[in-house]
Amino acid sequence: MNADEALWPGDRWMPLRTPKVFIARDCIHAAVCRLAEEIRRDYRAAPPLVLCTLKGSFMFLADLVRALDLPVEIAFVRLSSYGSGTVSRGQIEVVHDLREDIRGRDILIIEDIIDSGRTIGFLHAYLAPRAPASMRVCALLDKPQHRHVPVIIDYCGFTIPDVFVVGYGLDWNEQYRHLPDICILE
Ligand code: IMP
Ligand code: MG
Repeated sequence: MNADEALWPGDRWMPLRTPKVFIARDCIHAAVCRLAEEIRRDYRAAPPLVLCTLKGSFMFLADLVRALDLPVEIAFVRLSSYGSGTVSRGQIEVVHDLREDIRGRDILIIEDIIDSGRTIGFLHAYLAPRAPASMRVCALLDKPQHRHVPVIIDYCGFTIPDVFVVGYGLDWNEQYRHLPDICILE
């Protein structure tokens, strides 16, 4: 049993740790505006289908599409790679598939954070047979230290060191997603 499992006895009890602000909401806002500007420039002629990876990207998506000012369509896919801890198990599952037909469409994948690269690598390979016209990736956070699968991030908010972050959609054991800042746990 590792330390994370020891904190998770199987019921709803769990000692919550104090979140410490790592990237404050105004910095997130500035990054979202910069990303929106870059995306708008590239997709002005033909707005993409924006594909949000649940659950972690929901808050980022909501802010980004409002800043975009483009008539984008929005789709959702839910993947899971992490269990209840902070270390990727390396196994990715499609929990909810997208229903939209993506053949011939320009897809902009929205990710909260790219760590090992396995999730986005998997999604790319999963969607490619459906023959989209193009696929690009917009990630709020890039944590490149433990990359196993090479990833091209077309639009990147922040490159961060190897710390486990929560808040602004990101969770630890389904907790802390609601925090308006990106935080680390003390
Ligand atoms: P990857 O497959 O290792 O690149 O991991 C990507 C997914 O793992 C993200 O979409 C998150 O759901 C989760 N993840 C990776 N690092 C963190 C973190 O620091 N905090 C919360 N979730 C994370
Ligand atoms: Mg994610």
